[in-house]
Amino acid sequence: MVRIGLIGLGFMGRMHYAAYQKLPGVKLVAVADRDPKRAAGDLSGGWGNIEGAAEKLDMSGVRGTTDFNELLNMPEVEAVDICLPTPLHEEFIVAALAAGKHVICEKPLALSIESAERIAAAAAGAKGIFMPAMCMRFWPQWAWIKQAIADNRFGRVKDATFRRVASMPPGWFINGEMSGGAILDLHVHDTDFVFYCFGKPRAVFSRGYVGASGRIDYITTSYLYDDKVVTAEGGWNRADGFPFTMRATVQFENATVDHDASRERQLLVCRDKKAEPVDLLGDGYEAELAYFIECIRSGKRPGIVNADDAVTGLRILEAERKSVEIGQVIAL
Ligand SMILES: NC(=O)c1ccc[n+]([C@@H]2O[C@H](COP(=O)([O-])OP(=O)(O)OC[C@H]3O[C@@H](n4cnc5c(N)ncnc54)[C@H](O)[C@@H]3O)[C@@H](O)[C@H]2O)c1
Repeated sequence: MVRIGLIGLGFMGRMHYAAYQKLPGVKLVAVADRDPKRAAGDLSGGWGNIEGAAEKLDMSGVRGTTDFNELLNMPEVEAVDICLPTPLHEEFIVAALAAGKHVICEKPLALSIESAERIAAAAAGAKGIFMPAMCMRFWPQWAWIKQAIADNRFGRVKDATFRRVASMPPGWFINGEMSGGAILDLHVHDTDFVFYCFGKPRAVFSRGYVGASGRIDYITTSYLYDDKVVTAEGGWNRADGFPFTMRATVQFENATVDHDASRERQLLVCRDKKAEPVDLLGDGYEAELAYFIECIRSGKRPGIVNADDAVTGLRILEAERKSVEIGQVIAL
């Protein structure tokens, strides 16, 4: 049995809670939030763009606290799951690792490259396992696409386009000093996935603009590779009411693969004049947490994603930010 302490009971805390309920051999033993209502297990009134989040926690056998350090010092907590706003990540990752816990933390890992590097250094020297929660690497349809790219089953990739646009999420996200703006908070998913599939681009060229958060809230980027065309669009600048949009289209030599989260049959493989659906179950949060638990059980550090990957992702994002700012291609 792996015993978990969950810190931060907003949207992502609710999603992670729901995922743990489905995983065998996992027990939630403690939860913490600065809001006493949430710490007592009442998660009503939160935000979220994905169905399935829990509203009420089953608090039997679970200690609820508003003191994050109390949770970190509980000997029965083996692994700490951090779903706090981004500026709080470093402090509680480092403290949890120092307390000898295994740690998973929501994306983006940090607001700056320096902060992410300090986290990576703490993770490298820690007894516990550390994993940044880059959920798209585990999203069933996207993990399938990554595999198809890796094993060349449809030939080489000619081009790939990723799209993630939404209206401004409520709460602290509009404060760019806390969220980093859509470039960091939302577009990070696609930058990381591009890096995961194709390696580090040799350069980026981005266009975008500063929005309500005071940071870049809309961006399109060309990731420059010698043998393929790769672009991503990200933004939370859309009018309220605009549906959350997540899409990936990959053109292979012999097929077009398309994932559209708004479609009933989300993943399609188009070739030979046919569009064949590939139906996959589950979500990325469940798969990501299952993998984290598997790493704890086997004692192996995560191979699918680690802190150094998150540092590289932030370096690419910083190049994208600079490209928007000065209007030039930025080499990496
Ligand atoms: N992987 C994904 O798809 C995804 C989606 C949304 C958010 N996130 C990330 O998850 C993390 C948490 O985001 P969220 O959407 O759950 O946020 P949220 O606002 O819904 O929840 C944050 C929780 O932290 C608590 N909290 C503790 N200290 C706080 C403080 N000083 N200021 C504000 N809240 C405080 C709040 O009470 C709240 O319960 C962020 O890093 C965010 O970028 C990831």
